[in-house]
Amino acid sequence: MTRPIEALISLANLQHNFAQARALTPGAKIMAVVKANAYGHGAIRVAGALGSLADAFGVASLEEAVELRNSGIDSPIVLLSGVFGRAEIREVARYGLGTVIHSVEQLQILLDTTLPRPVDVWLKLDTGMHRLGFTVDAFCRAAERLRAAEQVGNLTFISHLACADDPPAPQNQRQLARFQTTLAALELRADESLSLANSAALLTRPDMHFDWVRPGVMLYGVNPLSGNVPLPAGVELRPVMTLRSRIIALQTVAGGEAVGYGEVWRAPGSQATSSRIAVVAAGYGDGYPRHASNGCPVLVNGKAATVAGRVSMDLLTVDLGDNPTAKIGDAVTLWGEGLPVERIAEASETIAYELLTGVNQRVKFSDA
Ligand SMILES: Cc1ncc(COP(=O)(O)O)c(C=O)c1O
Repeated sequence: MTRPIEALISLANLQHNFAQARALTPGAKIMAVVKANAYGHGAIRVAGALGSLADAFGVASLEEAVELRNSGIDSPIVLLSGVFGRAEIREVARYGLGTVIHSVEQLQILLDTTLPRPVDVWLKLDTGMHRLGFTVDAFCRAAERLRAAEQVGNLTFISHLACADDPPAPQNQRQLARFQTTLAALELRADESLSLANSAALLTRPDMHFDWVRPGVMLYGVNPLSGNVPLPAGVELRPVMTLRSRIIALQTVAGGEAVGYGEVWRAPGSQATSSRIAVVAAGYGDGYPRHASNGCPVLVNGKAATVAGRVSMDLLTVDLGDNPTAKIGDAVTLWGEGLPVERIAEASETIAYELLTGVNQRVKFSDA
């Protein structure tokens, strides 16, 4: 047996989640966001499974886009952060990619370059997040220059929401209003499109869907709404990644004895009682969060158990509680089917995005 940690990727669940997105917004096109190796799931695998379903793919860099093109994905692909230097814009055209333009520098690079063919441009307005995008006046000036430029194919106007995961937050309304007011001033042309919604807005704000929605995390089966806000009625997301390993050792620990680095967990009871501890081949060196505290849930043979003691690089320890019959070789689900990754995120004070993208190459990936 080799080291048993593995990530099983359910492409059926991915396609199910995509269908949920499609049903929520039958009139809009869908850009499936597959940046960061498809949120850690494997970009080629994911884009392959969505290739005939998604209207476009969103990535973070030219390298990510070229990886997909070279694997045979011929759908539109958009660089969501645009180009990082002058040399990249010709490659964008050569590979038939689209690109966000969020800054004057990027605009100038495009306008200064003679391209073999026009590229689709996604011009980004900063509606209040203050991360990427043009201010209102600069955006309107940039739009006019792009409308007149021979380097530009389709033109889409785009912005990004800071608080979509918190639907009642007033920022959402403010950003929508700024988007709409700015675009009204621009007098949209018939062949120009709009895009604002990520997963959370796709799920909760039909008035933000416009022409293109850009779901990422929901496609991987994660509820993006914060504070355990439930999904809208009728929507069901299924986990795409199941991170799984096996028990490689068992310990019987007397009450009062500690387990693991720093002795942060102690078996309850007295010397006369004992706890069964399973040692599992998974650790922060695989991408499992070290901050998963005592009590973080796992499933041992499908039954609930909890992390006991500090997670180490290659191993974690589990209090088997009322499941004392577990044995070496038994399967341990760390997240995924039966155990939403959101619960691990909560227990380790992070977000599911970070956990999914953090699973690294020590972990074997295969189709579920
Ligand atoms: C510009 C842009 N659009 C869409 C998304 C997808 O967001 P989510 O995964 O929350 O759906 C992202 C992800 O961060 C993004 O940066």
